[in-house]
Amino acid sequence: MPKQQYILFICLGNICRSPMAETIFASMVEERGLSDSFVIDSAGLHDYHEGDMADPRMRRHASMHGYYITHRSRPIEMQDFSRFDYIIGMDRQNIRALQMMQPAGSKAQVLEMASFLRHHQSDSVPDPYYGGDAQFEHVISLLEDACASLLDWLTEA
Ligand code: 4NP
Repeated sequence: MPKQQYILFICLGNICRSPMAETIFASMVEERGLSDSFVIDSAGLHDYHEGDMADPRMRRHASMHGYYITHRSRPIEMQDFSRFDYIIGMDRQNIRALQMMQPAGSKAQVLEMASFLRHHQSDSVPDPYYGGDAQFEHVISLLEDACASLLDWLTEA
């Protein structure tokens, strides 16, 4: 495994899915004693919520599972494509937007979060913003599944 791997999670607003993914992934990395081996961050495709804490509904559901989200929303920057090794989007729209933005020759590999699911069958981590409790819970259970498998994959590489 390389000395340090740089992982960036992306969604639309960076207030629900990607800060939750960042928090779950960081917690799994810490549990495995690998915190020094990863740099983990998240960002959004738009800046509507720049500087904001995660959505209170996402934070409430996170805390019900023992996770505490401290990230503040930030928009993705062009430098992220050269700084991060892996940029992981939550749905097809995210992936398309990332592929359009990515400067030619930059090092980041753009990957889709749902491709790491082992126990759930879903082609995306769907946006919970206009949903209710069940959608926020679903996001957490998809992300726990995908983060565990992503971490296995990155540590086997
Ligand atoms: P996220 O959810 O992409 O998972 O952070 C959303 C947050 C905000 C909006 C849409 C999705 N919005 O339209 O403001």
